[in-house]
Amino acid sequence: MLRLTAQDRCNRFMGTLGDERVRSYCAGLDWSSTVVLGAFIDGELRGVGELATVTRFPRPVAEIALSVEAAWQNLGIGTLLLRHVLNMARNRYVSRVYMMCLIDNRKMQKIARKFDANLIIEDGGVEGCLWPSWPNYASLMEEAATDGRAFFNAIVGPQQPTRH
Ligand SMILES: CC(C)(COP(=O)(O)OP(=O)(O)OC[C@H]1O[C@@H](n2cnc3c(N)ncnc32)[C@H](O)[C@@H]1OP(=O)(O)O)[C@@H](O)C(=O)NCCC(=O)NCCS
Repeated sequence: MLRLTAQDRCNRFMGTLGDERVRSYCAGLDWSSTVVLGAFIDGELRGVGELATVTRFPRPVAEIALSVEAAWQNLGIGTLLLRHVLNMARNRYVSRVYMMCLIDNRKMQKIARKFDANLIIEDGGVEGCLWPSWPNYASLMEEAATDGRAFFNAIVGPQQPTRH
C-alpha cells in the first residue's frame, strides 16, 4: 500500500493519507473479521483484495476494497481479485457486500459492474452493493484451489498469473 501512487492511495482510502496512517491501518487490521487476498507476481505483492465483515447478524454484511500497484494495473488483476474476494464472501454466507469509491474512479466502477453491482452516488462518492449467491460445492472448491495454488507457490516458487 505504501507503493501506491498518491492518486491511487487517495482512491483506495477515499482521501489523502500519509505513510504513518497507512502503516497503522495495516497494523490495525482486525484479522478476526478481515480476509486479505494478495496478488503475487514473481514473489512480489502487487495487488490486494480485502474483505472485512462489518456486521454478522442477522446475516453477515461485508465491505471490500481493492488496490493494484500502478505498473500492474489494466492487466485484469483487479477483476481477478474482486472475483476471488466475492467468492470468499459467498463461502462465508455474506448476504451483501459494499464497495465505496470516489465518483471519478471509473476503473473501480467498471470492475464492480462486471459483477452486477448496484452503484449509487452518495455524498461525493459511489457506493456499490453486490449480493453474493449462496455457497455451493463449486464456490468452495474454487476457494480451496486458490488456497492450494498459493500454498504450492509458497513452497516451490512463484508462477505467472493467468487472466480469467
Ligand atoms: C481500481 C483498481 C483496483 C483496478 O485494478 P486493475 O488491475 O487495473 O483492474 P482491471 O485491469 O481488472 O480492470 C480495469 C478495467 O478498467 C478499464 N479502465 C481503465 N481505465 C479506465 C478509465 N479511465 N475509465 C473507465 N475504465 C477504465 C480497463 O479497460 C479494464 O476494463 P476491461 O477489463 O473491461 O478491459 C486499481 O486501479 C487500483 O488499485 N486503484 C487504486 C485503488 C482504488 O481505486 N481502489 C478502489 C477503491 S476500494
